[in-house]
Amino acid sequence: MCGIVGYIGQHDTKETLLNGLEKLEYRGYDSAGIAMLNEDGMHLFKAKGRIAALRNRVDNAVHATMGIGHTRWATHGVPSEDNAHPHQSASGRFTLVHNGVVENYQDLKKAYLHDVNFASETDTEVIVHLVEKLFKKYQDTVKAFRQAVSLLKGSYAIGMIDSENPDTLYVAKNKSPLLVGLGNDFNVIASDAMATLDVTDQYLEIFDQEIVLLNRNFVDIQNLDGTAVERSAYTAQMDASDIEKGTYPHFMLKEIDEQPFVMRRIIQEYKNANNELKLDMNIRKAMKATDRIYIIACGTSYHAGLVGKQFIEKLANIPVEVHVASEFSYNMPLLSEKPLFVFLSQSGETADSRSVLVNIKKKGYPALTVTNVPGSTLSREADHTLHLYAGPEIAVASTKAYTAQIAVLAILAVDTAQAKGFELDFDPLQELAIVANAMEVLTDQKEAIEALASDYLATTRNAFFIGRGADYYVCLEGALKLKEISYIQAEGFAGGELKHGTIALIEEGTPVIALATQANVNYAIRSNVQEVAARGANTMIFSSKGLELDTDAFVLPHVHELLAPLVSVVPLQILAYYAALDRGCDVDKPRNLAKSVTVE
Ligand code: G6P
Repeated sequence: MCGIVGYIGQHDTKETLLNGLEKLEYRGYDSAGIAMLNEDGMHLFKAKGRIAALRNRVDNAVHATMGIGHTRWATHGVPSEDNAHPHQSASGRFTLVHNGVVENYQDLKKAYLHDVNFASETDTEVIVHLVEKLFKKYQDTVKAFRQAVSLLKGSYAIGMIDSENPDTLYVAKNKSPLLVGLGNDFNVIASDAMATLDVTDQYLEIFDQEIVLLNRNFVDIQNLDGTAVERSAYTAQMDASDIEKGTYPHFMLKEIDEQPFVMRRIIQEYKNANNELKLDMNIRKAMKATDRIYIIACGTSYHAGLVGKQFIEKLANIPVEVHVASEFSYNMPLLSEKPLFVFLSQSGETADSRSVLVNIKKKGYPALTVTNVPGSTLSREADHTLHLYAGPEIAVASTKAYTAQIAVLAILAVDTAQAKGFELDFDPLQELAIVANAMEVLTDQKEAIEALASDYLATTRNAFFIGRGADYYVCLEGALKLKEISYIQAEGFAGGELKHGTIALIEEGTPVIALATQANVNYAIRSNVQEVAARGANTMIFSSKGLELDTDAFVLPHVHELLAPLVSVVPLQILAYYAALDRGCDVDKPRNLAKSVTVE
């Protein structure tokens, strides 16, 4: 997490940095800062809170041709101005921004910096002091920078300025994302191309353990041992309008509304001219060859994996295990003979998932990444990639990436089933088209769902979501959506499990939201609703057309039962959105969260 931007060139450094940081706020937004160097020296501005607060602090009279900026998601040290980046060395000569975690910062302090007074509680500050220490020894900034970086254990994306050397921006990367953007008479660095898309669409990847020296018309990429690296630029395939809110009040609402289009885009991208499924042959081979799939994911992606497991098991007849990435390394299950690892990740950058990928690649196992960002780390480092085609997702709470993941996993399952010669009575492209229409029906009924949010959730302290089978998995996601943006304590439960303990929490008026989209458990889930209603719960049932009763709060359009999660999640997303809005919460940037979690 944390976002970095840097600029060296002839245009307005300040605006490039501030605009870039605004685009990177999804990576963290508890404090921010920029440093700009001009002939009068270094100008440093920091603020606690959002980039808007930083903008108010920045002196508009300062013009500079080089600068670095940072938006923070605190790991070491509370969100404060002192802990906000950029950080400076004791003499003030070196100024640095960092994204990542320096795991050995305490050791480095003891070994090299016992005589230094630290101005912050961050791990980052160690790096800048280390550079200064090593500079005193070598009298050479590149050598000191390279040496300092070589001593770091952990993850880092670094941008550094040496005030005595206004022609060079010093850059390093390991595990945390960082790109170089190329311009005419300027160059930039950014954690994500999105940040600087308004100034260039030409980018160079930086790989782990490389350092880069940038001036305004030259980029020098080197390995840590100093060997030069040649790399060609690529054009970022992103439309600047994709990352604007347009007329929407929030990105989350825009992204909820985009879901029908995303379904149609997936259909287009995964079919050939004969309207048949079209998938990379190598992925098909890998799916056919495996005897067990291990889906690895975090957060919302993990919930999408639970739904995807059902498709792969039911349609392609391959056993699937779904694992939370952060637990997998220590709680590694016994692996089958021919495992295939499937990494589900919207961003393709999540550190917990990447750490599993690195481990299993060392053991020689094949990996497929399903992601919204094809050039991302998880995509580059896996053997195969399936693209979600959801377009940039900016709101921290994931919506369209979740439904895109489920749709792509359905396509993968059917493609595998076909490759294995199974006769299926299920055409995913046709069924997804029906889903897209159903989603549209729902996004057109926001007012009805908004009314439910205000009736049931306006003042409650907690809420429960219950379902059975696939509905249970959607309940986990519905509860996560509600808690992450409205801060209502919400839990998703298997309908039958509630009575084994959690029912003790049901009081007069406790909201219980139930899903009923699966015919085989329709009566069973309704019994569970009765059980909580008898104990005072304020119940609300979302049922599928054909399974509904008159008393249900909302009837969802009919779609193929396997794909019902794609539809039933939409009202839960909208419910969470309005509940958060009613409570005055910052929907797109909930407290304590970040969209791309690049620390383990
Ligand atoms: C963060 C986000 C979640 C997301 C999770 C996994 O925690 O706040 O919304 O589901 O990371 O992200 P990924 O990019 O790997 O899907």
